[in-house]
Amino acid sequence: MELSDVRRARRDRALVVLEGFHAIKHALRFGGELLGAWTADAAELEALRLRLAPDVAIGAAVVPLDELAAVVPRAQVVAVARRPVQPSPDALLAAPGPAPVVLLEDPRHLGNLGACVRVAAAAAAAGVLTTGRQDPWHPDALRGSAGLHFALPVTRSRSPRTGDRPLVALDPAGDRLHSAAVPPRAVLAFGTERDGLSDELLARADARLALPMRPGVSSLNLATAVSGVLFGLALSGRGGTRAPPRAPSPGR
Ligand SMILES: C[S@@+](CC[C@H](N)C(=O)[O-])C[C@H]1O[C@@H](n2cnc3c(N)ncnc32)[C@H](O)[C@@H]1O
Repeated sequence: MELSDVRRARRDRALVVLEGFHAIKHALRFGGELLGAWTADAAELEALRLRLAPDVAIGAAVVPLDELAAVVPRAQVVAVARRPVQPSPDALLAAPGPAPVVLLEDPRHLGNLGACVRVAAAAAAAGVLTTGRQDPWHPDALRGSAGLHFALPVTRSRSPRTGDRPLVALDPAGDRLHSAAVPPRAVLAFGTERDGLSDELLARADARLALPMRPGVSSLNLATAVSGVLFGLALSGRGGTRAPPRAPSPGR
């Protein structure tokens, strides 16, 4: 594969484009298969690797800076990986264990979507399910997740599904969140950035809970809300129980 193939790879649903060191690092740590990687400065990339992630080997080809910038204006390294086959929404929901599934209803902003994936991976959620028009594996979402899509299942569903899991709606107008109100294996549903959760999901929910906020604040950013809820649960012993990465990581 050549650097000139990266543009085509963006449109190929069997591939993913990873922009930047952190996205490539996380993809490799969590079993991603790189088909090619390119940098304009091998010495700088190697210094970064030794400082931040000596556990991974990127093996990037060196290309002229203007050619790299024409493909990725902001990143010092770009790679193409095989897109891991994702479980169907029903298979994701059937995953055993108490860890919650994060359901994002029609998220619009790809960077925000990626940030939700990043925090779901860090907090050991069972997976992320999205609905709506956005492809959760879009390169901008992968950049927002720093490549942590590779650490857990991330799948889009035509409609908001919950399988046999209890549904907890996170809504600024809900009852105050406390960990005992969130059963094991819950689907934690978060709404779209502007309008929040749909009436349909709110009506179906077994509980409607809120992170308490100071008077006058109407809501949190979507990814911030996902983070607050997942880490609130994790710190009270109700979070995910996913095993740590296969290779213990000495890096950051
Ligand atoms: C930017 S907010 C949507 C704001 C929308 N105007 C509303 O009132 O729901 C996006 C999502 O983040 C979650 N969220 C934001 N603030 C929250 C809070 N204080 N408690 C629980 N969830 C919250 C909700 O799921 C919400 O649908």
